[in-house]
Amino acid sequence: MSPVNVVVGVTGGIAAYKAVGVIRSLVLAGHDVHVVATEAALRFVGKPTLEAISRNVVNTDLYEGVAEVRHVAIGQAADLIIVAPATANTIAKLAAGIADDLLGNTILASRAPIVIAPAMHTEMWQNPATVANVAVLRSRGITIIGPATGQLTGADSGPGRLEEPERIVAEALAVLRPKDFAGRRVLVSAGGTREPLDPVRYIGNRSSGKQGVALATAAAARGAVVTLIGANLEVAVPSSVTLIAVSSTLELAEATTRESAEAQLVIMAAAVADYRPEDVQPTKIKKDQQGERMTLELVRNPDVLATLAATRRAGQVIVGFAAETESDPTALLELGRAKIARKGSDYLVLNTVGWTEGFATEENTVVVVDRAGAIVMEASGSKASVADRILDVLA
Ligand code: CTP
Repeated sequence: MSPVNVVVGVTGGIAAYKAVGVIRSLVLAGHDVHVVATEAALRFVGKPTLEAISRNVVNTDLYEGVAEVRHVAIGQAADLIIVAPATANTIAKLAAGIADDLLGNTILASRAPIVIAPAMHTEMWQNPATVANVAVLRSRGITIIGPATGQLTGADSGPGRLEEPERIVAEALAVLRPKDFAGRRVLVSAGGTREPLDPVRYIGNRSSGKQGVALATAAAARGAVVTLIGANLEVAVPSSVTLIAVSSTLELAEATTRESAEAQLVIMAAAVADYRPEDVQPTKIKKDQQGERMTLELVRNPDVLATLAATRRAGQVIVGFAAETESDPTALLELGRAKIARKGSDYLVLNTVGWTEGFATEENTVVVVDRAGAIVMEASGSKASVADRILDVLA
C-alpha cells in the first residue's frame, strides 16, 4: 500500500514498550509515523527511543507548538490513528470526548479512522465501566484490536495483554483498504501437506504457507469472508480469517471440497502432495525389519484443484498455483500453460521455487496466466504486496 501518515498514540501502561514494535513496523513499511505520547507513557518508555524509531519529533505537551496550532494540526494531517497501548483511563477519556492532553485533542480534531489496542489487567478490562466505554467506542466505528489473553505484568494471566505489534499494524492498516471484496466468500488453501508413514514420520514439503496466508489476510482486509484451509502452517493467521487446520492431502481434500460449496472464489495456494504412502504403519517403522534399503509404496492422491475446477458452479472462480523449479521464464510459462490446460482452473499463479527461492522466503515473484495461457499479471515483491496484486486481478 502507498505510504500514509499514521499518528501513534502511546499511553501510560507497562505495555508502552511494545509501542516501539508497532512504530518500527510501520516505519519499515514506509509509513510516516508521528508519535503523540501522554506524560504517563514517557514514564514507561523514553522519548529518545520513540523519536529514533519513529524518525520524527515526539509530541506530548499541549502547550508546545501553539503557534502552529499543533493540538489540531497533528490530527488533521493523519490518515490513521493507532492508540497502542490504550489504558483503561485513555479509553474512558475517549468515550467521553475529553481533550485534556495533546492525544485527546489530536483524536478529537481528526477525521481519520481510529484503531485502539487496549492493554490492562483483566479486572480493569472486565470492569463494567470499561466494558461500557469500549462499547461506546465501537458504536462510533472505532476499531478495537485485542486485547490478547495471556500472561500479564504480574503473576496473573487473562484477557488484557496488548496484542502483538505485527498484528496491531496489519489489522490497523487493513482499516484503510478499499473493500472491493465486501460480502464475497473466499476459500484459500495454504501450507504443505504431510503424508504420514507411521505415528512419528511423514513425507512433506517445504511450503511455509506464507503466500497463501498473505492472500487470505489481504482478501479479509478487502472485505471478503475468508476461510483458510491451513496445512501445517509456519505463520500466524489473523483473527479476521477463519482457519481450518489440516495435515494430509486427504484431510485437505475433504475440507476444501466441503468449504468450497459456499465460496465464490477458491485459491489453491497449498503445496499438495501428489502421492501418499499406501499403508500407514500403526507403530514406528524399525530399521531392523528393513535392512540396508527400504522401499516405500506410494499411491496417487486426488487432484483437488482439478476436481474443484471440473465441478465448479456457474460464476465460481478457481485459482491454482504452480511452484516449479524451472528458472527460465519462457520454459516456466510453457509449464504453466500446460498445467492450467490440464487442471482447468480459471487462473494459474506461477512461481519459481528452489533450494533458496520461493519457500519460506519473505519475497515472491509470480506470473499469472489465464485459461487461454495469456499472461494477465506479473508481480514481484513482498508476499503481502504480491497477494494484493493477485487479488486485483480477481476483484
Ligand atoms: N494440487 C491439488 N491436488 C494435488 C496436487 C496439486 O489440488 N493432488 C493443486 C495445488 O494446490 C496447486 C496446483 O494443483 O494449486 C498445482 O500444483 P503442482 O504441485 O504444481 O501441480 P501438480 O498437478 O502436482 O503437477 P506436477 O507436480 O506434476 O508439476
